[in-house]
Amino acid sequence: MKLHPAPNIKDITPYPPGKPLEELEREYGITGSIKLASNENPWGPSPKAVQAVISSLSNLHRYPDGSSYYLTAALANWLDVDPQEIVLGNGSNEVIEFLVKAFVQKNDEVITSHPSFLMYQKFVQVRGGVNTVIPLRDMHHDLAAITRAVTDKTRLIFMDNPNNPCGTLFSRDRFQRFLSGLPEDIIVVLDEAYIDFVEPGQRIDVTSYIRVPNNIPAVVSLRTFSKAFGLAGLRVGYGIMHRDVAGLLHRVRQPFNVNLLAQAGALAALDDKDHYSKTITETANGRDWLSRKVEELGCRPYHSHTNFFLIDVRGDATMLYETMLRKGVIVRSMQAYGFPDFIRITVGTSSENQRFVKSLKESLQELGYA
Ligand SMILES: Cc1ncc(COP(=O)(O)O)c(C=O)c1O
Repeated sequence: MKLHPAPNIKDITPYPPGKPLEELEREYGITGSIKLASNENPWGPSPKAVQAVISSLSNLHRYPDGSSYYLTAALANWLDVDPQEIVLGNGSNEVIEFLVKAFVQKNDEVITSHPSFLMYQKFVQVRGGVNTVIPLRDMHHDLAAITRAVTDKTRLIFMDNPNNPCGTLFSRDRFQRFLSGLPEDIIVVLDEAYIDFVEPGQRIDVTSYIRVPNNIPAVVSLRTFSKAFGLAGLRVGYGIMHRDVAGLLHRVRQPFNVNLLAQAGALAALDDKDHYSKTITETANGRDWLSRKVEELGCRPYHSHTNFFLIDVRGDATMLYETMLRKGVIVRSMQAYGFPDFIRITVGTSSENQRFVKSLKESLQELGYA
């Protein structure tokens, strides 16, 4: 065999192949572990979504509706936009990929921040584009440095707002000023995967930007059913954008990119306002409670607008991660993100949160931190 991979593919680090929970438990001789590492919804999917998926199973021999007609219409109604202003994806990840495919050619530049969601840079590498990476400043997107980094080769700017892993947010005013300082021929992508957890008064009114792209760049908002709606396993996300941008993304989309069960589940989840509201309220309560407890243990929690937050554990975060893993509590070490003393945790159910605090306390003592 002789392989000739594209040169830009060779430099890409594959997504780290995590082990299934069951394998980890077997390896560490534990049972009933809890996962607070991937910012999922700990209360599970909406029962209505589960029922809708079950009811759709008998149609699995059919291709899904390639236009996701009903889900798009329901989203348009919920967001008060036109269906033509929405593009659905196999997770919002796929909409990121569409944007890069549609707008980035070899050697074109894309601006991202670090640390931030890693997939933006990966898709750019696949395309042979150039990543311009701007460090966060005090854990926030450095909007001034991003503006300075724009060149005539810049095609896209990706910013997760709130940011993953810091949970920070920029204000409407700062965003408005930022947009007016940019050339109109680039696209600003606001990845709003965690927007449901943000106080409504602090959200950017993206629909007002997608309609009036006069003299300012096009704005695209990315949203997902993986977080507040509890459907990470089904893979449904979407973008809200000007209909001309949407038209271009549809050209690079596979016809059946959102599967049959995903469409049915997401449609039902959107209709289950109780489950959604419970998730938002309980997340905020859990985040406040956890922050207080973590502080009592001598660590420093960072304020977050999301369902996760950073904790400075004042010691090697990877050692703490391993110690907690042996106790069946899975968190994320932030060493690889440039925060060697930080872990990131997802807010869990109240019993998971209590277990996390107990395990953190024991682990800090064992390691002699704090
Ligand atoms: C900032 C951000 N964007 C996008 C995603 C991916 O979302 P999806 O599951 O819709 O692909 C994540 C997932 O963790 C995320 O943190």
